[in-house]
Amino acid sequence: MAQYDVIVIGAGPGGYVAAIRCAQLGLKTACVEGRETLGGTCLNVGCIPSKALLHASHQLHEAEHNFAAMGLKGKAPTVDWKQMLSYKDDVIGQNTKGIEFLFKKNKIDWIKGWASIPEAGKVKVGDETHDAKNIIIASGSVPASVPGADVEIDEKVVVTSTGALELPKVPKKMIVIGAGVIGLEMGSVYARLGAEVEVIEYLDAITPGMDAEVQRSLQKLLSKQGLKFTLGAAVSKVETKGSKATVTYKLRKDDSEQSAEADVVLVATGRKPYTDGLGLDALGIATTDRGQIKTDGHWQTSVKGIYAIGDAITGPMLAHKAEDEGMACAEVIAGKHGHVNYGVIPGVIYTWPEVASVGATEQELKNEGRAYKVGKFSFMGNGRAKAVFAGEGFVKILADKETDRILGCHIIGPSAGDLIHEVCVAMEYGGSAEDLALTCHAHPTFSEAVREAALACGDGPIHS
Ligand code: NAI
Repeated sequence: MAQYDVIVIGAGPGGYVAAIRCAQLGLKTACVEGRETLGGTCLNVGCIPSKALLHASHQLHEAEHNFAAMGLKGKAPTVDWKQMLSYKDDVIGQNTKGIEFLFKKNKIDWIKGWASIPEAGKVKVGDETHDAKNIIIASGSVPASVPGADVEIDEKVVVTSTGALELPKVPKKMIVIGAGVIGLEMGSVYARLGAEVEVIEYLDAITPGMDAEVQRSLQKLLSKQGLKFTLGAAVSKVETKGSKATVTYKLRKDDSEQSAEADVVLVATGRKPYTDGLGLDALGIATTDRGQIKTDGHWQTSVKGIYAIGDAITGPMLAHKAEDEGMACAEVIAGKHGHVNYGVIPGVIYTWPEVASVGATEQELKNEGRAYKVGKFSFMGNGRAKAVFAGEGFVKILADKETDRILGCHIIGPSAGDLIHEVCVAMEYGGSAEDLALTCHAHPTFSEAVREAALACGDGPIHS
């Protein structure tokens, strides 16, 4: 049996990135993955397939709503659902094979199967036990059910995000439980494809934790696209009868019990760490009351030589957070100084328009009693956005009132998920709003809206 420097458990964005960086740093590395393909939830049943369906359904939306205005006339496209799923599968295949190629290129052994850790320094897969000086747990997360509710997921009528990517047809009516990232992205896909979509959310606002102005704008824009929102509603039961399901919920404002029927119910009420079968208890690896593995500042668990990263530990369940931890953890194991700046991790929702945010929200700054200023700029003042029917939304930059240092940025608008990164870079360097405002931005680009918001923190924007 080979003796490895590192065995990584799980080949999602956390695990495969950790494995590649370990190998690049000269460590003999293997990665255990039980799925048929590499890439974890993100590439197989998460980020990537959902983006394919979001892209395809957005094209339909454009054809139906904006083509005629641009002088593009003729028969509107119809949905060939089977072909759309096969396009999505092709995108998955290209990406998962890409990781396989990278494993070969970096001489990483893919140990196929599900791993357990009988003791520190050993990883068991099937009947074989492999030796490893270091183990990185990157086992990810799985969908959580509706807390406190009676719900049975069958991945046919009552589905998680996994089933929602494989429906046999576009449903007539879909109920989405939870107005978080998954609910809004998948709800958008099916609303664009013609389904009646109702989103039932426990809180009084969508996208918990986001900037309140962004929450309100996004709800307004998605409502215009046909999504119906029932907020302040706690789901207590989902009953399936044949090919339909009934969702029972209680409206918090008057305690009244209501119900609604749908062909498909998407449960999107969060995810929980997936650590089943690893043997954490027997090893004495400490976890939080939410099942997240506890780690120190260097991603080491309470057992020496066993590290953990990504969705299995604390922090936002985001692929890019897991990737950063994967790289940093590999560097620590190789004796370098791996570091993750948890204050600058962007979050993106791939609806139309996109939403992106980094750093503090205005509510957080208010709660902290911090003196801050707001620079806001509407995409209505951005020529490029207007040319592509994307004038709705805004960029909002929050900066320290005294020092002008950027504290946060919240964008709802075209390509928000890309625009956010210049602000992330500025924040990494401790930059000020003026730094962004004094940086020449090419015209005509969506990024000019970021600069204008930065200008709005100072002497004012030009185009509003
Ligand atoms: P989420 O935590 O974003 O949202 C869950 C929503 O369900 C919350 O708004 C919550 O208030 C609501 N909820 C909980 N119990 C309820 C009940 N009984 N009745 C009604 N509503 C209820 O979780 P989501 O959307 O499932 O996503 C899971 C994870 O995956 C998140 O951490 C998310 O960040 C990540 N993810 C990220 C993506 C991205 O970066 N674009 C895409 C998809 C997922």
